[in-house]
Amino acid sequence: MSPIPKKILCIGAGYVGGPTMAVIAAQCPQYKVTVVDINAARIKAWQTDDLPIYEPGLSDVVKKARDRNLFFSTDIEGNIKEADIIFVSVNTPTKTFGEGAGKSADLQYWEKTARDILKTSESDKIIVEKSTLPVRTAAALERILHPNDKGIHFDIVSNPEFLAEGTAINDLLNPDRVLIGSRESARGKKARQEIVDIYTNWVPRDRIVTSNIWSSELSKLVANAFLAQRISSINSISALCEQTEANITEVSYAIGRDSRIGARFLNASVGFGGSCFKKDILNLVYIAESYGLYEVAEYWEQVVKMNEYQERRFVRSMLKALFNTVAGKKIALFGFAFKANTGDTRESPAIFITRRLFEEKANIVISDPQALDNARMDLDDIVDRISFEADPYKAAEGAHAIAILTEWSDYKSLDYQRLYNSMHKPAFLFDGRNIIDRDNLFKIGFNVYSIGNPPRTHFEEP
Ligand code: UDX
Ligand code: ADP
Repeated sequence: MSPIPKKILCIGAGYVGGPTMAVIAAQCPQYKVTVVDINAARIKAWQTDDLPIYEPGLSDVVKKARDRNLFFSTDIEGNIKEADIIFVSVNTPTKTFGEGAGKSADLQYWEKTARDILKTSESDKIIVEKSTLPVRTAAALERILHPNDKGIHFDIVSNPEFLAEGTAINDLLNPDRVLIGSRESARGKKARQEIVDIYTNWVPRDRIVTSNIWSSELSKLVANAFLAQRISSINSISALCEQTEANITEVSYAIGRDSRIGARFLNASVGFGGSCFKKDILNLVYIAESYGLYEVAEYWEQVVKMNEYQERRFVRSMLKALFNTVAGKKIALFGFAFKANTGDTRESPAIFITRRLFEEKANIVISDPQALDNARMDLDDIVDRISFEADPYKAAEGAHAIAILTEWSDYKSLDYQRLYNSMHKPAFLFDGRNIIDRDNLFKIGFNVYSIGNPPRTHFEEP
């Protein structure tokens, strides 16, 4: 192997693999970066201007490097053979069957990838764990890859990705830290240094944190668990605010001004979604349980339970406000993505809320600037009985209620007087993200229910 590897391969062209490799290629013209995937349609889309994921700033980065030193391909075997460094960024969903179902990570895609690498390789390689994996996965990988009769050596490095969707490009270009873990042996440290060398092309050295491989694997799960815990903590307090006339935004601001607490991730919401938080916490819970640490497991599981409570509570408050029935009532859902600036809907609270309202026989219209295609797939069993309308004004025509589920900035600047005029009266607005001025909506005539605030209604609360 040459001292500075020139060929980087990424297996998995998803929300993590695609943007990460685009940034590496754009920042490091000296490397040839190839991204492969078993999903041929996805690869084809990466080769066009209509990228398979919506991410602000991504297309500029892709255009800068594509066909220069960034390539997308379905030739997995050929590219494994050529590569010096292989990032593995395949999906690791929660297991839905057998031992650990509902909690542990389903590593079948990972294991298949490891076996593909073993089968195809003809030279030494560094294998980088990019997907979030349970702590000690590297040990399992080593067992698959090490005892090979080809005399080939694989070094395993953990380099978890901390990008958040919607801000992925900035997160990749200006990360708080890059974490790179390896075995502490001379070989392990040398492999780790090769990955450090990639990032030092644009990340200041003091932001690159190196550690042992288990710390790196575990830190990714713990970072997500801590972030989600803040949201569940503030959401638990939002329920109390609604009863006590405290205002959650004021409480968040007041506590966030304490520099020991900090201001971020304190926005009460209809619940957190996304592909990582729930999955990673349940994974942490499963790992703790498997070591017999039941109190630890229970402590973290509560973060997920509080999130589910928040989703249920939102639907309950809608039902109660709408005179305990939504049957036959038109409800416009503003936002289906799990957060703003992405079309991703994985684990979006909107999925649960839509299904609950559907069970209650509401007449649902879903609006979202980017996520309608994914919404249709998430709801494929009931898709014919729900409407989808990109234009929020059309979605709200004749509706009894609007529920804001995603904090898209478009929804902050809508003409709410116009929306109100076109709606059925009394008109209700449920703000699941606290993005609209309650007093203003109330003045227009809406009955307003914002997370973490007492209702503002034109009639006595029952
Ligand atoms: C998260 C982590 O932030 C990232 O570091 C990791 O790599 C992957 O998981 P992501 O899921 O893309 O990223 O988005 P994030 O911004 O963390 O939001 C997750 C969910 O929490 C969203 O549904 C968001 O709306 C919600 N959220 C976030 C809140 O409800 N309140 C907040 O204050 C912040
Ligand atoms: P993430 O958000 O972690 O990037 P995604 O689901 O968006 O997750 O992306 C994972 C990608 O990995 C998918 O595009 C999937 O097709 C791909 N993938 C899964 N298994 C394999 C495999 N064995 N070889 C190549 N690609 C794979």
